[in-house]
Amino acid sequence: MTIKGIEVPQVAFGTWQLSGEDCFNGTIYALKAGYRHIDTALAYQNEDVIGKAIKKYGIKREELFITTKIPADIKTYEGAKKAINTSLKNLDTPYLDMCLIHAPWPWSDVGGDYSDGNVEVWKALIEAQKEGLIRLIGVSNFHPKDIEYIVNKTNVWPVVNQIRYFVGNTQDEIVNYCKAHDIIIAAYSPLATGELVDNAIIKEVAKKYNTTPANICLSYVYTKGHILLSKSKTESRIIDNINNLFKLADEDMAYLDSLKHIASTRPLRS
Ligand SMILES: NC(=O)c1ccc[n+]([C@@H]2O[C@H](COP(=O)([O-])OP(=O)(O)OC[C@H]3O[C@@H](n4cnc5c(N)ncnc54)[C@H](OP(=O)(O)O)[C@@H]3O)[C@@H](O)[C@H]2O)c1
Repeated sequence: MTIKGIEVPQVAFGTWQLSGEDCFNGTIYALKAGYRHIDTALAYQNEDVIGKAIKKYGIKREELFITTKIPADIKTYEGAKKAINTSLKNLDTPYLDMCLIHAPWPWSDVGGDYSDGNVEVWKALIEAQKEGLIRLIGVSNFHPKDIEYIVNKTNVWPVVNQIRYFVGNTQDEIVNYCKAHDIIIAAYSPLATGELVDNAIIKEVAKKYNTTPANICLSYVYTKGHILLSKSKTESRIIDNINNLFKLADEDMAYLDSLKHIASTRPLRS
């Protein structure tokens, strides 16, 4: 897909909870399998390992799209500037393709009001974009009111909102708001962090297509047209998760749309 004239690969390799050898090998497997978008965060403490794996694989920088995030507990302009520079150093790159505010509140205070702090961080992102350090800027886990606040203060819209999104947890209010304002949805935890791969309802749909429940869940997000972030440390799954994607029939999409709360919907520390 293209955002503001910039090519953004729809399928991204997620790296939350990957560290050390799993992260290094996982990134190499992902690049070999054809992923050209990698999603990380300063808070994942794995940017340096990802940077090393990218160098080892030897891909040209411009052929890769890297997303990272400003930690959720950083809510000052200076703190955000420092975080951007740290991510650039960790990833050993002159620029980030996309940088997001990880969440509108620190994970220790989910739902707390940090509106003015978010404006500070947003200003640092706007500045870094002007300086050419970041190509696209966005948010994550933001509700419409959080987005409205930063836009009202800066007049700059985020281009992406990365949210927890999977079959039965489609966050329609946020998605509709984002669609109306040309904000692309990036769907994280499309397998509900693994919870959905053994789900009995999804298994029935998988049978019909002679595929796996995991592939149904990932293909559901793919069919919706959102950015798809899936994580695995297992080479065969990393390969399957990008190569087996397909467009589900309308009737099956409608059925999957009708399912509610088939896995935990709470925001997880990430
Ligand atoms: N912005 C945010 O706040 C936020 C929050 C959460 C996640 N994210 C991003 O979204 C990415 C994906 O979300 P997630 O890490 O929660 O997980 P996920 O992709 O929903 O699920 C990953 C889990 O499913 C397993 N799995 C993967 N492919 C499978 C397959 N084909 N068959 C069976 N099991 C499979 C993995 O196991 P193995 O690894 O053992 O193979 C792992 O346990 C993250 O890595 C991160 O980049 C962002």
